[in-house]
Amino acid sequence: MELDRLFEERRSVRSYAELPVAKEDLLKILEAAKLAPSWKNSQTARYYVAASDEMREKLRSECLPAFNQNNSANANVLIVSAFKKGVSGFTPEGEPVNELKDEWGAYDLGLSNAYLILKARDLGYDTLIMGIRDSESIRKLLDIGDDIEIASVISLGKRDKEPVMKARKPMDETVKFF
Ligand SMILES: Cc1cc2nc3c(=O)[nH]c(=O)nc-3n(C[C@H](O)[C@H](O)[C@H](O)COP(=O)(O)O)c2cc1C
Repeated sequence: MELDRLFEERRSVRSYAELPVAKEDLLKILEAAKLAPSWKNSQTARYYVAASDEMREKLRSECLPAFNQNNSANANVLIVSAFKKGVSGFTPEGEPVNELKDEWGAYDLGLSNAYLILKARDLGYDTLIMGIRDSESIRKLLDIGDDIEIASVISLGKRDKEPVMKARKPMDETVKFF
């Protein structure tokens, strides 16, 4: 798909049709997420995929607040997005390179997530990034160690109606030219 159209068509989708995500498409989406740039190519993004009905429903009901359970109802796959701490933005000896510390890991993860959600759209799927979730319940359910920071849960499925396009701020509010 042409890039500008992809950017425009990609929306946060909160209403999904009951349709499966093909395994080969899921793998392509996760492959795309790996192609994102990262601090010294440290590739600290980690994804935990709840693709079985049982695990997806557990994740939804035990780890998401009611409104995000509702937002992701019928989404065929839920993906926990996380990163390994203390690597991106750190020296090999484990010293932070500057004041952002592990925020660089979050930065890298955001880039990787952007590739993931755009590839999903390219293949005809839709996503919702959910930052409002219970990270400790996710950690327990998926047995995720303390070296991993849990960021979001991303729903993946197919839209069942056209989502509203959210307005963006004018460029003079977000960019300064010198
Ligand atoms: C880091 C992050 C966390 C978000 N968390 C939630 C969430 O918990 N629930 C939700 O409904 N939307 C969530 N969103 C979606 C945003 O509300 C959405 O991206 C924004 O309103 C712009 O709309 P658009 O994605 O359709 O362009 C999140 C988005 C991001 C990037």
